[in-house]
Amino acid sequence: MKVKGKHYRTIWLDEANDREICIIDQRKLPHQLEIEKLKTVEAVVTAIKAMHVRGAGLIGVAAAYGMYLAATEASRENNFQNSLKLFAKILKASRPTAVNLEWAVDRQLKEISKGKTAEEKIKIAKQTAIRIADEDAGHCRNIGLHGFQLIEKISKRKKGKTVNILTHCNAGWLAFVDHGTATAPIYEAVARGIKVHVWVDETRPRNQGASLTAWELLNHGVPHTVIADNTGGHLMQHGLVDMVITGADRVTRSGDVANKIGTYLKALAAKENHIPFYVALPSSTFDWKIKNGVKEIRIEERDADEVKYIQGLCDGEIKKVLLTPAGSPAVNYGFDVTPARLITGLITERGICKADERSILNLFPEKKK
Ligand code: MRU
Repeated sequence: MKVKGKHYRTIWLDEANDREICIIDQRKLPHQLEIEKLKTVEAVVTAIKAMHVRGAGLIGVAAAYGMYLAATEASRENNFQNSLKLFAKILKASRPTAVNLEWAVDRQLKEISKGKTAEEKIKIAKQTAIRIADEDAGHCRNIGLHGFQLIEKISKRKKGKTVNILTHCNAGWLAFVDHGTATAPIYEAVARGIKVHVWVDETRPRNQGASLTAWELLNHGVPHTVIADNTGGHLMQHGLVDMVITGADRVTRSGDVANKIGTYLKALAAKENHIPFYVALPSSTFDWKIKNGVKEIRIEERDADEVKYIQGLCDGEIKKVLLTPAGSPAVNYGFDVTPARLITGLITERGICKADERSILNLFPEKKK
C-alpha cells in the first residue's frame, strides 16, 4: 500500500544486502515511520516478541525470513540440522496464538530439507521466504476481491448511502505483507467508488486500532472514526453499524476464531443486533488439526505493563505513562475465541463460506481427512 505516494510492503529484503531483512517498526506508528534492519535470527525473534512486527500474517512471513537467516547462521555451525531445528523451535515459541508462525516455520523446514548442501539450503530458504511473502500479498488481494461484494450488496440495499463497517484491532496491510484481510474488502470497495465509513475500535491495551488501522485508513483516504473499545454495542443498537469485519489469528476447521481480545464481545453484540459479522483470513490462518477453539487454542498472555501503561506522543516525543495505581496488579490476555455460531461468514482467498466444517472444506477440499 502507499504511504505519501510511495509503495511499501511491511517486510522485504534489503536491496544492497540480501542477508538483511527490512521491516517497518510498528511500535513507532502512527507518529514515526521508521525502517528497521534485522540481521540475525535473534533480532527477528525480538522483533516478533516485542511487536516491532505484528499481526498473524506478518509474523508468519517474518518467521519465514527468520528461517532464511537461520539457515545462513546454521551453515556456520558444526551441525547444520541441529542448529536449524533449534532456531525453528525458538522462532515458533516467540508468539503462541497466531498459527501462521508455526505454519511458515514448518513449511520452511520441509523445503530446506530438500537441499543437499548448506548453500543449496540457504538458497531454498530465501526463495521460500519470498514465495510465502508474495503468496500472503496475493491472498489478501483476493480476499479484497471476494469481500468487497458483501459491502457492495449492502450499499445497493442502502441505495448508495454510506456503508458503516466496524473493525477491531489491525487486520490491515500492516498485519500482513500488503492489502490486509479485514481492510482488503474496504480498500477494494473504496477503489470502486462505494461509499464506506469505518468505525475503528481503539483495541486496548496495545491500541492497534487507534494507532495502526487509523493510520492506514488516513493514509488511504478512507473515512473513519476511532472509538473507545466499549462503544460498538451502543452504535449497533442505534443502527450505526451495517457490518463487522475482523481478522483472525487462528481458525479451527469448524470455524471458531481466535482474534484480538475483545472480538468475542463485538460478535455477541452483533448477533444480538442482527448485524452481519465477517472474519477475513488467508488459508495460512486455519489450524486444520483442531475443532474446538475455546478448548484447544492457546491464548497468549503478555506483560501486565501493557495494560498498566499507555504510549503516545508528548511534546514531539513518544512517551509511556502509567494509567493505574503502581501497586495494582493487571492481567493481559492477548486474544479471545469467538465461537463459529456467532460468525456470519469467513472471507478467504478462495471465496466466502459459512463458519462451519462442511462449508470450509468445500472451499479447501484438499483438507478433508
Ligand atoms: O497482537 P497482534 O497485534 O499481533 O494481534 C494480532 C492481530 O493482528 C489481530 O488479532 C488481527 O485482528 C488478526 S489479523 C492479522
